[in-house]
Parts: sequence; structure tokens; C-alpha cells
Amino acid sequence: MRAAALTLQLALLAGCGGPQSALAPAGEHAESLARIFWWMSAAAVAIWLLVVGISARAMFRPAQGDETTRLRKAKQLIVYGGMVIPSVLLTGLLVYGLALLPRMLAPAPSGSLQVLVEGRQWWWRVRYLPQGGGDPVELANEIRLPKGEPVEFLLESHDVIHSFWIPALGGKVDMIPGRRTRLSLLPTKTGELRGACAEFCGASHAFMAFVVVIQEKEDFLRWLEHQRAPARVPDAPLERAGRSVFLANGCGACHSVRGTTADGVIGPDLTHVGGRASLAGWLPNQPADFERWVAQSSRLKPGAHMPMFHMLPPSERGALALFLESLK
Ligand code: CUA
Repeated sequence: MRAAALTLQLALLAGCGGPQSALAPAGEHAESLARIFWWMSAAAVAIWLLVVGISARAMFRPAQGDETTRLRKAKQLIVYGGMVIPSVLLTGLLVYGLALLPRMLAPAPSGSLQVLVEGRQWWWRVRYLPQGGGDPVELANEIRLPKGEPVEFLLESHDVIHSFWIPALGGKVDMIPGRRTRLSLLPTKTGELRGACAEFCGASHAFMAFVVVIQEKEDFLRWLEHQRAPARVPDAPLERAGRSVFLANGCGACHSVRGTTADGVIGPDLTHVGGRASLAGWLPNQPADFERWVAQSSRLKPGAHMPMFHMLPPSERGALALFLESLK
């Protein structure tokens, strides 16, 4: 019994930290939300202790005074304890909570970084809209942001409703097909966070995770500049063979690799896929994982639209994996 209680406590405490916790904030909105959570919790605990204290007193202390006095005291307790104090406390907490809203709902200042995120079945298309023209930078299941800079997310969905949520940065917003919703956030700490889809959307809802990397502004700009460049030209023979496999098997009908003839727009842009923090949002980004993914995509992510290419001979799959991994 004691072990079970301890396990439960540890499990509850573990939920307070980590890269995907609203209680380990790394953004302005999440900090406000965490603060209001702790204030509300503290108030709830204080009220609970007060009520338990009064109940214990009533149970264990013999009744004092005559009946009229006791009746008067009981009435006072009901009026103050049951009406006045809760009204004052709850109104205070309500006003405190509502006062945070205008700031959280305010759009990012004009000229802020804009990132278009589109929910797909079941991955995230992430597009950095260029501020001075040119091609947008596109990646999948990964978002990089500069620390201390406001960012405006433009949220869209291709077919079903998803909900975009980075708990350590702020609240969640639905992605609704046919509409564009917006969310402005301000990261305040560097580090690697995790985002998720917060609305059940289908078979692979649970696999709709993404990595969020918060960097210093200079590092972020350097990264963005690198992402704008076309794909690296492979030099090793096996990588070159992998590129031929990629182009000969029609991968380019769905995927783009800028700098080659592959210009598909259905699936993720793979121009710099080897440099991403994860593959498909949750696999480590290693050649062996690329090989597994190419052969068993919809087995690893049920309902994924990418066909499984297990018919490719292992040598071709291996070369393809090396080519994709080389696209840093
Ligand atoms: Cu997308 Cu749940």
C-alpha cells in the first residue's frame, strides 16, 4: 500500500518537469499559466485546511454556551465561511485569471517572426514565411525559435481537427480545416522542448509529437540561413546511389529535395532531413531509422499515407537511408 502511494506520488511529481510540462515554463504565457496554477493550488489547499480545521473543532470540542449563542455562532459561520469568504476569494482569483487573458490573446507585434504550421495525417508541416521575399523554409515535426523574440503561429489543418500545443511555451489552439487560427508566443529560455497534438484526431494521434528547439538569436539565424540553402550534393558513392534510388522510385512525387528534380508537396520537404532532431516526430534520426521508416512507414505510424517501400532490395534501402541521413 505504502509502495503504491509512493509510486503515485513520484508519478505525479514527474509530471511537473521535463520538456513537455506546463509547470516547467520556458515561455512568457506558460510562466503566467504556471503562476496562476500555483496560486489556485495554494488557495485550494488553504481553504481545505481551514474547512478540515473547523470540522475537527466541531467534532472534538464539547459544545459551549447556551442554545441562542450557539445558533448565532452557527449563523455567523454560514454567512462568513459559506458566503463572504468564498465570494471574496473566488472573485479575486477570477479577476487575477481574467486579467492575464488580454496579454495572452494579443497578436505578436507586426514584423515578428511568422511560422505557418499545418496539421497533416499525422505530422506537422512547418513553414517559415520569408519576411523579405524568397522561398519559405520548410521542415516537418520540428520548430526552431529564437529566445526572447515574439513569434506568431498561423495554424491550419488539411483535413481533420488537430490542436497545436507546446505546454512549456503556452496554451493550445485548435487547427480547423478551412480556417486559419493564430497563436502568439514568446520563448524565454533556450533548450529542447516537446510539443504535441492535444485533440484526438485519428489512428496516429498519439504519434503527433514534435520537437521545439529554442536557440539564441544568432544561432537561430545561422540555422535559418543554412535551411534556405539547397540540399547538399552527396559525394560518397553509396550516398549518390541512394539519391538515384530516391529519384528512380518516385519519392519526388510526394517529397521535395531542393536542388534535385524532386519537388513533391504532399509529404515533408526532405532538403535538410538529416539535420533534424527526430524522424517522423519520434524516431531517432539515424540511417537505421530511415531504413526502418522507408520499409514500414504505416506500421510505425498507423494510418500514415506514405506507402511502405519494403519491396526495395536491402542494399537499395541502405543506400537510400545513407543519402537521406547525409542531407544535413
Ligand atoms: Cu493531430 Cu491529434
